[in-house]
Amino acid sequence: MTDSLLTPAAGPASGMSAKPTTAFEFPLQDSSGEVCLRQAWASLPEPIGADEKESLLHDIRRLLRERNAVLVAHYYVDGVIQDLATETGGLVADSLEMARFGHDHTAQTLVVAGVRFMGETAKILSPEKTVLMPDLQANCSLDLGCPADAFSQFCDAHPDRTVVVYANTSAAVKARADWMVTSSCAVSIVRHLHAQGEKILFAPDRHLGRYVAEQTGADMLLWEGHCIVHDEFKAVELASLKARHPESIVLVHPEAPASVIALADRVGSTTAMINAVVENDAKSFIVATDQGILHRMRQLAPEKTLIEAPTAGTSATCKSCAHCPWMAMNGLKALRNALANSGAPHEINVPAETAEKAVNCIHRMLAFTALESGGALTNASAAGLIPHIGAA
Ligand code: 13P
Ligand code: SF4
Repeated sequence: MTDSLLTPAAGPASGMSAKPTTAFEFPLQDSSGEVCLRQAWASLPEPIGADEKESLLHDIRRLLRERNAVLVAHYYVDGVIQDLATETGGLVADSLEMARFGHDHTAQTLVVAGVRFMGETAKILSPEKTVLMPDLQANCSLDLGCPADAFSQFCDAHPDRTVVVYANTSAAVKARADWMVTSSCAVSIVRHLHAQGEKILFAPDRHLGRYVAEQTGADMLLWEGHCIVHDEFKAVELASLKARHPESIVLVHPEAPASVIALADRVGSTTAMINAVVENDAKSFIVATDQGILHRMRQLAPEKTLIEAPTAGTSATCKSCAHCPWMAMNGLKALRNALANSGAPHEINVPAETAEKAVNCIHRMLAFTALESGGALTNASAAGLIPHIGAA
């Protein structure tokens, strides 16, 4: 790629500049495998006072009821929104459970508090439902770093490989994939494919891809994307923190670099990390993922000590703050507006042709995980979606 080292992908959308806006760099790969850095923007919600917060919460509860809507939130969004989801009969979960819950729920409207790919997945799985998001600009560096046209050319150049994509991708990228995975099922799905003798093309998270290849022994060609939050965790600082807290269990999300994963006692998805805190007898945990997860961990295990893994500097203090700027775009005002106004600024739509192709790789994952957990397949055709499932 002959691009300069740092070129803007696009400026902040009009209307975003009134709010505090932060720029981030992310890696962008082209179809030949070359990588350059691009800039993206996140526009954070303005702070609100206690009275306004109460009034917004009141409005949102009412609108959820009136619209027969359910709120599905990721563990990384603001704790107030996580609590609202739980309290109103919705869900706070990892990306796999968000997809499954939205699909199975009877509500006509899904409100997804998370990032864009989560809303798109919900819409692809439930095209008949209205899917709203507080802010459609809430993206993900992995999604941004894997444009569909370049990815498709990359796949064309490697026709002998089964295409496996992380959930953190656009609908158009999923439309080109054979399988979708999340961090909670990536290892088991790739292990199954490897057992069938398949070679894998994996995109876009290179850290997750490398971790999965190491765990499974599979031949994996990796796209060179990374998460701007997890890529920041520092191994040297984590080792020194661990030395000062030898009694602590180190939990690491597989989007972190290999040197950080090497120090982990447990590597897993957000749900796996929460379960570890709740179920493990240890009293103290060092947590290497977005700090939004601490809210749920504190609620479920208030007696445990939680220490944030260092992202930079010489101590456990988080200098670059492990908090996804796009997850932070999910504010109460935007959530109320999504429910009150819906329509273009808040509604997720996926072109039918793209959705029809993309749904196959998602159904395969859901069918595989349902079989793996011993549950009955809800979709009668699902077994046919998983080649050689009996043999793995
Ligand atoms: P989970 O699938 O573990 O929820 O992770 C999603 C994500 O975006 C992590 O950065
Ligand atoms: Fe994407 Fe990283 Fe944010 Fe997750 S934390 S949504 S992977 S940028």
